[in-house]
Amino acid sequence: MRIAAMLLLLSLPGSLTHAQPANADRKWWKEAIVYQIYPRSFKDSDGDGIGDLKGIISKLDYIKSLGVTAVWLNPIYSSPNDDNGYDVSDYRNIMKDFGTMEDFDQLLKGLHARDIRLIMDLVVNHSSDEHEWFRQSRSSRSSPYRNYYHWWNAGNGKPPYRYSLFDVNHDAWCYDSLTDAYYLHYFSRKQPDLNWENPQVRREVYDIMRFWADKGIDGFRLDAFQFVAKDTTFPAFPTGFEKNFTRYYAMQGNLHGYLQEMNKEVLSRYDVMSVAEGAGNNFEDAHNLVDAGRKELNMAYAFDGVDIPKANGYSVLHLKEVFSRWDSAFAQDGWLSIFLANHDQARMVSRFGNDKPPYRALSSKMLSTFILTMRGTPYYYNGDELGMTNAGFSKIEDYRDVQTLNEYRHKKTSGDSLEQFIKTAQFSARDNGRTPFQWDAGGQAGFTTGTPWVKVNPNYTTINAAIQEKEPNSCLNFFRQLVQLRKNNPVLVYGSYRLLDKDNPYVYAYTRTLEGKKMLILLNFTAQASTVHTDIALGKATMLLDNYGTGPGGNVLRPYEAVIYALP
Ligand code: GLC
Repeated sequence: MRIAAMLLLLSLPGSLTHAQPANADRKWWKEAIVYQIYPRSFKDSDGDGIGDLKGIISKLDYIKSLGVTAVWLNPIYSSPNDDNGYDVSDYRNIMKDFGTMEDFDQLLKGLHARDIRLIMDLVVNHSSDEHEWFRQSRSSRSSPYRNYYHWWNAGNGKPPYRYSLFDVNHDAWCYDSLTDAYYLHYFSRKQPDLNWENPQVRREVYDIMRFWADKGIDGFRLDAFQFVAKDTTFPAFPTGFEKNFTRYYAMQGNLHGYLQEMNKEVLSRYDVMSVAEGAGNNFEDAHNLVDAGRKELNMAYAFDGVDIPKANGYSVLHLKEVFSRWDSAFAQDGWLSIFLANHDQARMVSRFGNDKPPYRALSSKMLSTFILTMRGTPYYYNGDELGMTNAGFSKIEDYRDVQTLNEYRHKKTSGDSLEQFIKTAQFSARDNGRTPFQWDAGGQAGFTTGTPWVKVNPNYTTINAAIQEKEPNSCLNFFRQLVQLRKNNPVLVYGSYRLLDKDNPYVYAYTRTLEGKKMLILLNFTAQASTVHTDIALGKATMLLDNYGTGPGGNVLRPYEAVIYALP
């Protein structure tokens, strides 16, 4: 980095004055840079082909080297793995494939020793059907656990239709002959929904949360939480509601009451951050989840951004509009998460960028620049720092995800085109983002000495961490620079955001401003050279980082060029 830029990084202020909006009061979780680890695919230590906690422990120095300040770990609890750990059979134990509680304690210690916080996934919209609660609940209509789940006695006829996201028949009611009743599962049949209307269930969950918070973890990501509250009379929904099911499933009943209770019972008593997956149906819902005065959660995690790309492309104007709208709705109160990928999405560079060889690294770095320079807490998905791409499996046998496999079976039964289904899956299936982390060019990308649970992307011989360690301008090293830049500049965390050149269909340009410090970010989201139109004179700006590594191209941005400037 140039000396002028270095000096500038050192001189920006670390403190804020009070004339700031409510969302600018400093909090560690606003300044956090979250690195999401999918444990199953990160690093296998024992050769069984499945990533594990010891594997993560062996890579702690790598994680530290990224500069990230928090790790979000996908579920590691005991689970029969119908949905890769999102079906928990014991909330206080570690999945056998992943290791032991001693391993967990060591992992937490290792992270904390490196000043990295740990955020755990909490999956309590549903449990596994192999959880003891469900075994009991299922056993008889008079079980004290019966009311832990949602049952509909068959004597009352068929229950009103509920859509299931993962069921072969899309039916969220599963008939169980043992007690002649149906139970509810918004996800797979092995993921029965817990009954949050039962105070005993809520007490159990708070106990579980205290168990982990007492161990010293630093936060919770509440899986599918917007769906937990339900109208247990199960009224009929209009025909076709499933096309927009979130409208009927999200933020129902007393959800906010439960969150306030959870906040009082657990969250307020520890220095933990909280984020719920999903942010309801509109800004009002999202604000109601996270505005400070409401004492519910810390930050919203909304899907509008990741929902944008489609197999046939997307509009950059649309992307700019969505992110700008969310930013302005949260400019005063509340706080957002910024992300372009996670374990439920295909790879960021394949969806939002361009994974063809000439542009893969450039566009990946451009997208990373976007994530690390927006207002909101960045959530960065493991492997994206290498520019890992979709595997795009062309055979159903290579897929592992319950969602893809059940939907394939559904399409087969309903006579839909399977060819088309695979085509879509190649672009958007979740397994694209779950292939093993590409550590090096050795066998199985250095992920395992055994046979990986899902195939390694064959491009690991050229896209891997070992190669990128050695290249100063690799995706990996560029990501590290971005992280440092954000950490050193509160303007990138708290600064107000202003969209420039709004109608430019190729370039995303914006400024971030805080207490007289101003940065300009120019991102060409396309493969064509594109001119940015602003009244800012670039001649007086100091370039801090550019993804070409050859200095900026000025007002004409090269394909997928990303530049960050400090403005006088
Ligand atoms: C969330 C998780 C996803 C999981 C689902 C059911 O959406 O992110 O991976 O399949 O909930 O738990």
